[in-house]
Amino acid sequence: MEFYDVIRTRRSVRSYKPDPIPDDVLQRVLEAARIAPSGSNRQPWRFIIVKDDEIKKKLVPACHNQSWIAEAPIIIAACAKELSYNRGGYMGKLSGVMDVTIAFTHLILAARAEGLGTCWIGAFDNEQVKEVLDVPSGWNVAALTPLGYPAEGESAFKEPVGRKPLDEIVSTDKF
Ligand SMILES: Cc1cc2nc3c(=O)[nH]c(=O)nc-3n(C[C@H](O)[C@H](O)[C@H](O)COP(=O)(O)O)c2cc1C
Repeated sequence: MEFYDVIRTRRSVRSYKPDPIPDDVLQRVLEAARIAPSGSNRQPWRFIIVKDDEIKKKLVPACHNQSWIAEAPIIIAACAKELSYNRGGYMGKLSGVMDVTIAFTHLILAARAEGLGTCWIGAFDNEQVKEVLDVPSGWNVAALTPLGYPAEGESAFKEPVGRKPLDEIVSTDKF
């Protein structure tokens, strides 16, 4: 797929077919996350691929009862390591989460290029998800997404709506 078509037609998908994801497709999507940039190339991330139905069901209450996430054959949880140092800059301890969200964006766009649906899940309880997935201390969950083929097929990949116009969000030289 053409790069700008991928970006333009990625939509949040909230209904999935149970069809499995071929291994080679999943590997390409994960590879897109692996090669993402990170501050000082620290790569402070871990991606947990949840396939087990029981574990997926346990994630639902930890994600504010968004039950449709368990329809997908896979749920991915992106975890960020708490960094004990930073090289300055206002992000400080949050810089690990920033790194992970960049990699997760790579993953989500690669999924779209493969015809897979995703939905960035930010409404979750970090401690509950950590408990379900045995995430050790020193790590936090940055985001989750279901990953699977959209129930409504290719028509799930619509044009974006409700975006602010460029002249409202861009300025030149000064704010
Ligand atoms: C940081 C973040 C957190 C989000 N959390 C949720 C969520 O918990 N549940 C959900 O259904 N959608 C969630 N979304 C999806 C947004 O609602 C969606 O991206 C936005 O409405 C634009 O729609 P689109 O993704 O289809 O372009 C989240 C998106 C982002 C970027």
